[in-house]
Amino acid sequence: MKEHITIIGAGNLTMSIIEAIKRSRAKLTINVVDIDKKKSSQLKKFGVKLNTTYDDEISKSKFILLIVKPKDYVQALKSIDPCVNSQTIILSFIAGISVNQIEKLLTADVNIVRCMTNLAISARQSYMFYFMKKGSKKVVDKINKFLLTFSVTKKCSEENHINKLTALYGSGPAYYIFFNSIIKKSFQQMGFNEKESDNYTHSLMLDSSELLGISESQYLLEAIASKGGTTEAALSQLKKDRVDLSVRRAVQQAYKKSKKILSE
Ligand SMILES: NC(=O)c1ccc[n+]([C@@H]2O[C@H](COP(=O)([O-])OP(=O)(O)OC[C@H]3O[C@@H](n4cnc5c(N)ncnc54)[C@H](OP(=O)(O)O)[C@@H]3O)[C@@H](O)[C@H]2O)c1
Repeated sequence: MKEHITIIGAGNLTMSIIEAIKRSRAKLTINVVDIDKKKSSQLKKFGVKLNTTYDDEISKSKFILLIVKPKDYVQALKSIDPCVNSQTIILSFIAGISVNQIEKLLTADVNIVRCMTNLAISARQSYMFYFMKKGSKKVVDKINKFLLTFSVTKKCSEENHINKLTALYGSGPAYYIFFNSIIKKSFQQMGFNEKESDNYTHSLMLDSSELLGISESQYLLEAIASKGGTTEAALSQLKKDRVDLSVRRAVQQAYKKSKKILSE
């Protein structure tokens, strides 16, 4: 029999996860619940129907993936509360909302798991980090079996690791894409048109990440930056401008936010 899962929230991350599940060919029945029926058009391409009400379909699910924004988590949990029991496993992808905060809103003693991944999971087997306070071997095996079908799964020993991974791995693609847009603007400032700048940046970023897949970064930096050359001039300016410090401070801001997401 096909495993039945429910996903609450039909937004960006849900679409990426459904794409990953579909790519893996895992045999699952996916029930998606979102308060906005306009989201159904995006789900159609995956052959998944949208449910706009919290009904019995949820009670059939062993796994409930909670993928709403932090500001909506209380309402979402209140809505699923009547449909869950001690056999249910809730996988929460919500940044900054702790296992304790989720537990407090549920009547039954549900298995709560905090997960973190990023949007790139749609295209490849990305990491899926997870943490749970308690859980029998049987429950942990079930979680691993489910997540391993579409991700590289890693269990965290402390909940705070999820906050750190939110800042680095969850937000991570945005840092890379931000750098990508700086390079694209540099092409344009040098006189290349929009299309050329797009193409050259795209090729540069993809080819560089392939290089990182086959060689170690320090070796690559030395191979590209010859003494007295152009790359060395650029890298020494980046070091002088303390770009490393800026990036570390940015990541610290994300980490701080991931520990106190709703307080501001
Ligand atoms: N996006 C990422 O790269 C990423 C990466 C890692 C983790 N996350 C985490 O994943 C969560 C979702 O992010 P996202 O970018 O996918 O957000 P999103 O695009 O805003 O998707 C959330 C969806 O949930 C719907 N929703 C709100 N309240 C609901 C309720 N009570 N019941 C059912 N559906 C409800 C929203 O509808 P409305 O639009 O009408 O409000 C929206 O369609 C966040 O907590 C975030 O921290 C995101």
